[in-house]
Amino acid sequence: MASSHSVSAQAPHRTTRPTEVIITEVGPRDGLQNEKQFIASDLKVGLVDRLSKAGCLSIEVGSFVSPKWTPQMAGTDAVFAGMKRMPGGRYSALTPNMKGFEAALAAGADEVVIFGAASEAFSQRNINCSIAESLARFEPVALAAKAHGLRLRAAVSVAFGCPYQGEVSLQSVLEVSQRFADMGCDEIGIADTIGVGTADQVREVMAACASLVGADTLSGHFHDTYGQAIANIVACLDVGIRRFDSSIAGLGGCPYAKGATGNVATEDVVYLLEGLGISTGLDLDQLVDTGQWICEQTGIRPQTRVGNALAAKKRSRDAAKAEAANA
Ligand code: HMG
Ligand code: MG
Repeated sequence: MASSHSVSAQAPHRTTRPTEVIITEVGPRDGLQNEKQFIASDLKVGLVDRLSKAGCLSIEVGSFVSPKWTPQMAGTDAVFAGMKRMPGGRYSALTPNMKGFEAALAAGADEVVIFGAASEAFSQRNINCSIAESLARFEPVALAAKAHGLRLRAAVSVAFGCPYQGEVSLQSVLEVSQRFADMGCDEIGIADTIGVGTADQVREVMAACASLVGADTLSGHFHDTYGQAIANIVACLDVGIRRFDSSIAGLGGCPYAKGATGNVATEDVVYLLEGLGISTGLDLDQLVDTGQWICEQTGIRPQTRVGNALAAKKRSRDAAKAEAANA
């Protein structure tokens, strides 16, 4: 399943690439949600605080979902209570229904995320209902978010391919995106949950979504299972998308998308964007330290080429310095 849409030979028209990109760091949520070992809230707080220090102003802190479905996200309220909030920071949480919304509100989330799917099969597996039922459940969440002045974000999962259904039509991605736009979503994330999309396909889907809801409303959420995420982000930049989700050290996966690995690593995205002269406001060195730190603390292997390369360089520099000092 290399590509789930038929792509025209002619790539869609390119626009000017943005000069600034906003990254939402999803490591504390998407990165850790799939971990089987219990990760203490204190450690999650330490991660959020380090990410904040590295300049992350938009952080997905956790999920208010059923603890039976995603046990690792139980205790998200404690992470909200323990973390330091940076001025101008936006701290979000996933809320699949009103129960989740009430918990997010009580915890002091600035933004709530409703998460639907472009395939019926994934919707059933992830949130136990059809697409239509999920949208009906999201309506009151959207209204409540607006009434309380919270930012409202949506995710359209499996937009480039579904682990259960296979191909996903562009039409269903557009239909769900339109419904989210009608609900007043401030941002709609188009997600490659299982990381199967390739660059021309991504350009086509993102350009079509942008024509429908506006490029500035969209964000790209790429898991890197097939190693295509960086190329797919470049494809998005080419059609004017300037919001992306990424996960420190490439942590993560979705418990309800078998075989899906982590999101594209924040370190890799920042390195790419710095190379393209696009600013992010993030400090790459501090991100690398944070990625290595959380992996040491949890025993998870970092899935970041840039992070690992820069950490190795730093280790050999430090070793050379120590040797010189002892000489
Ligand atoms: P359900 O079993 O159909 O729900 O689950 P229910 O309404 O029948 O309730 C069952 C139990 O869950 C009840 O408790 C409810 O109170 C409780 P019981 O009476 O049995 O003790 N419950 C809740 N508890 C806490 N918070 C809540 C909540 N809602 C119900 N909000 C439900 C439906 C949506 C709740 C469930 O399927 C669920 O929680 N799913 C979430 C699965 C998940 O976390 N998936 C990963 C996140 S999505 C993702 O990773 C994709 C993304 O990254 C983009 C991409 O990559 O594609 C965003
Ligand atoms: Mg995801």
